[in-house]
Amino acid sequence: MKHTVYFIEGDGIGPEIWGAARPVLDAAVEKATGGKHKIEWREILAGEKALNETGEYLPQATIDTLRNAEFAIKGPLTTPVGGGFRSLNVALRQILDLYACIRPIRYYPGIVSPVRRPEKVDMIVFRENTEDVYAGIEYESNTPEAKRLIAFLRDELGADVDPAAGIGIKPMTEHGSKRLVRKAIQYALAKGKPSVTLVHKGNIMKFTEGAFARWGYELAATEFSGQTVVEAEETQYNNKLVIKDRIADNMFQQVLMKPELYSVLATPNLNGDYLSDALAAQVGGLGIAPGMNCSDQLAFFEATHGTAPKHAGKDTANPGSILLSGAMMLEQMGLQQAADLVQNAMLKTIASKKVPRDLAAQMEGGITVGCKEFGELLLAAL
Ligand code: NAI
Repeated sequence: MKHTVYFIEGDGIGPEIWGAARPVLDAAVEKATGGKHKIEWREILAGEKALNETGEYLPQATIDTLRNAEFAIKGPLTTPVGGGFRSLNVALRQILDLYACIRPIRYYPGIVSPVRRPEKVDMIVFRENTEDVYAGIEYESNTPEAKRLIAFLRDELGADVDPAAGIGIKPMTEHGSKRLVRKAIQYALAKGKPSVTLVHKGNIMKFTEGAFARWGYELAATEFSGQTVVEAEETQYNNKLVIKDRIADNMFQQVLMKPELYSVLATPNLNGDYLSDALAAQVGGLGIAPGMNCSDQLAFFEATHGTAPKHAGKDTANPGSILLSGAMMLEQMGLQQAADLVQNAMLKTIASKKVPRDLAAQMEGGITVGCKEFGELLLAAL
């Protein structure tokens, strides 16, 4: 069986990390399925390679292909300076309505972590990706737009805003919140996870963040009534999925103090941005953290770091993030065994302490290997 996956190599270290990761993914699928499944890779262009070949950073052909695709994976893309885009990544998210950003966080023994018990962290963040203060509705202080908006707020709504303020808008909808929470609950049920925690700052922002939590509970009660239970409402959960919520600032304490109590987290955009990086740092794995962005149709996996220009062309980059994103993709395709093989190869290779420079520098007795050699070690560990 063939699985079509569109790939964008990416800029900077993109071609190197992709070159190291792709053979590992192919080999894992081959080994796990005895050759019955195969990934058919098809390249599409974006970023500097696209600019060189087509004259555009994000060619229409790429967008058209992705609109009809089920799976895609990408390396990092340089944000073009004066290229007409705020960021290619943001443009892709908006054009393709990739509303959920999903980041699993786990610990790989051997990696140096700033906390004492990093192995207790096993969480997956579902971050809303299209709304909140990221909507891009923002006006600089003392511009005519900001002044006009502030005047409207004062005159029409009686809101007292300093006329010299810069001002931004935080839209959050029932539709946007519910589709994100739905994805988190569906995932938790499919994987037999114990809980989904709605992370919000609703004690202060009642009608945006507070509404996010309320809509989340409402969705669980209406669409998943037989399978979910609200925390503390009952004493016996009977193996049902527990839905709970935490105020965002408390959540940052909780993940440090009692990480074992948390599993799937559903968050609005800004909370999720902060929390997913904080969690990845907690397990020492910011540089190898995998991620995906998805719509209802497309699962788009990506290296979560940037193009690391200082490593480009030097064979010193770490391919871990794009590889583990590829493993997430295999899992999503139903090739769980192949995904497990990649995870195990990563565990083994990191335990051997032969790792790229960024990891070796932090490890006691770490031995630095190049990006290519790390890929070969992973292949051998398979
Ligand atoms: P960056 O993530 O490229 O680099 C931050 C630091 O991490 C640097 O010290 C870099 O050398 C290191 N680093 C990152 N990935 C690494 C890897 N795989 N192996 C070893 N070291 C690694 O972030 P920066 O410098 O802010 O951005 C550089 C470019 O990347 C910019 O044009 C930015 O717009 C773009 N970018 C793209 C992203 C994406 O495509 N998803 C995300 C973040 C930045």
